[in-house]
Amino acid sequence: MPNAATPYGTLPPASPPSLRKPLSLPRLADLHARGEKITMLTAYDATFAAMADAAGVECLLVGDSVGMVCQGLHSTVGVTLDTMRYHTESVFRGLRRVQGTAWLIADLPFGSYQESREQALASATVLMQAGAHMVKLEGGGWTTETVRFLVERGIPVCAHLGLTPQTVHALGGYRVQGKGSEAAALLKQQAHALQDAGAAMMVLEMVPAALAAELTGELKHCATVGIGAGRGTAGQVLVLHDMLGINLGKMPKFVRNFMADAPGVAQALAAYVRAVKDGSFPDDQLHAW
Ligand code: KIV
Repeated sequence: MPNAATPYGTLPPASPPSLRKPLSLPRLADLHARGEKITMLTAYDATFAAMADAAGVECLLVGDSVGMVCQGLHSTVGVTLDTMRYHTESVFRGLRRVQGTAWLIADLPFGSYQESREQALASATVLMQAGAHMVKLEGGGWTTETVRFLVERGIPVCAHLGLTPQTVHALGGYRVQGKGSEAAALLKQQAHALQDAGAAMMVLEMVPAALAAELTGELKHCATVGIGAGRGTAGQVLVLHDMLGINLGKMPKFVRNFMADAPGVAQALAAYVRAVKDGSFPDDQLHAW
């Protein structure tokens, strides 16, 4: 198939939308079961969402990293539910404009689910009605019952363990989690409980590669998606602006700048998809602990 000229420039060959099947929980479970790596990037607006979808990124995460990337905040703590709704709607409209097929995940922001399971349900409803297919929430332990409550009510949930940026002040900074046998055992126990509660996906952020790989092998019904967690996870996620090399702050060590060797954004996105699928990203030496 020849390269396609689009409003974004010339895109690498991809199946036309009419031939692509929308991602769904069963399709993601199938990718997981077959051992095919799952691709995920953050997205905050319609244009980048459409471009990432066209490049074949399977999951788009409207992350609360929007606070740092788009709002200039120093952490995700200040991001509100209204901000998440706005960006989820924008990404959803971008996907609809191009008949996109990506699975759309939206972060429940700090303060929107900690109070009670009912508060979590009300917040998740806002994001689902904005177009999300799944919500993500951070942490283990007490969150397990919240996950079960949402899943039982028909809301797919992605868990998030390891470095949980919403609790950065409690963690003492953006540092690797799950180091040492005690911390690793706690993380594993929390991960299993979240899977048993019905979490279908789980972001593992900044955890040792060996621990992430071990957990990935153990969790048969929950696809792990790593960021700074080595190459042994079921999928990979990066913050879009990081992988495009346009981060305003310090670039995390585990990021690769896909724009470095690409003539344009569309090609960088396609290179990311290829590198995750063929296992050449992340590089275990450079991108893990
Ligand atoms: O908000 C976000 O971008 C995230 C990713 C880092 C996984 O949660």
